Amino acid sequence: MSTSTFRALYVEEQKGGTFTRMIKEVPVEQLPDHDVTIKVEFSSLNYKDALSASGNKGVTQQYPHVPGIDASGKIVEDRSGTFPEGMEVIVTGKDLGSNTFGGYGEMIRVPEDWVVKMPKSLDPKLAMKYGTAGFTAMYGVKRLQRELIEPEGGKILVTGATGGVGSLAVFFLSELGYEVIAATGKMDKTDFLKALGAEEVIHRNQITDVDSGFLLNRKWNAAIETVGGEMLDAVIRQTNHDGAVACCGNILGHKVETSIYPFILRGVSLLGIDSAICKMPMRLKIWDTIADMDHSKLPDDYSRIAGLEDLDKEIDAILKGNQWGRVIVSHQK
Ligand SMILES: NC(=O)c1ccc[n+]([C@@H]2O[C@H](COP(=O)([O-])OP(=O)(O)OC[C@H]3O[C@@H](n4cnc5c(N)ncnc54)[C@H](OP(=O)(O)O)[C@@H]3O)[C@@H](O)[C@H]2O)c1
Repeated sequence: MSTSTFRALYVEEQKGGTFTRMIKEVPVEQLPDHDVTIKVEFSSLNYKDALSASGNKGVTQQYPHVPGIDASGKIVEDRSGTFPEGMEVIVTGKDLGSNTFGGYGEMIRVPEDWVVKMPKSLDPKLAMKYGTAGFTAMYGVKRLQRELIEPEGGKILVTGATGGVGSLAVFFLSELGYEVIAATGKMDKTDFLKALGAEEVIHRNQITDVDSGFLLNRKWNAAIETVGGEMLDAVIRQTNHDGAVACCGNILGHKVETSIYPFILRGVSLLGIDSAICKMPMRLKIWDTIADMDHSKLPDDYSRIAGLEDLDKEIDAILKGNQWGRVIVSHQK
């Protein structure tokens, strides 16, 4: 990185509405005029990054763009005076990587109130093993806990279980003493899911291949549902009395057709998660709880390191639903 440019994965819109990705030196002047400049050491790959990197205007309206909704690294300058030079920090969500140049660049500039001081027992690389996926999974756990969903209450379902949010939801819930059913389309990853703490692994079709009744046999006390669409509808109809379903994803679509009956005859709660806008007090609690986890229990093959030049194939895999575990993006590779 020279002082006037930084290396980044740069996405451009071409005439005719196609998008190209290239690695290039981007002038620092292209960064927005915010207070905090951070030298990014690590980022990560989330489903939303893949959408942004392939021209999805629902995520990124303006190109050229540098994706990366997660970043960790060191403070270069903070004009607000909050963070000293050299302090290790995390930025996830807010507008980072959506319409603000993100963590796939070696440098970002963001408002002071997007920045979280690195909690003790995390470091820039480990923080990105979790990233937005871990943050969202832990947010889901906290939403369930607020609904008094306790480990004694029975099984918790996690859908999209091999994905970023799903796999970390399995890990966090099992570490916190819950009995987890992991639903996946990748039954060959059963050992991986059991190593993360799943008690039971089921094929996701077992959830959706059900009849159209408004209420179905009750199979779990609560769920962290990461897929959306027909999966969310089916999960709600199979949730126990006074149960709760925390939802975050729209991979199977943004519409949910359901009926009122799970809500008024079983008291099921539907809990929405938006990790991007999460306010700072909750944001800090979530990172502190993640920091307290026993990181050594994550399986060795849980995450892998990719450089910017490796991202094309990783983006392709995540868009096809073939990704499992987490990809940490390193600017040092
Ligand atoms: N609201 C928020 O704050 C927030 C934050 C983070 C993520 N998200 C959203 O949450 C979702 C998951 O994100 P992620 O980063 O964890 O993605 P990911 O790593 O790609 O994981 C998604 C998982 O969903 C499952 N899946 C993929 N295609 C499917 C299909 N056609 N039918 C059923 N299941 C399918 C796969 O798991 P299996 O093969 O194991 O079934 C896949 O690994 C995305 O929609 C993302 O945009 C929302």
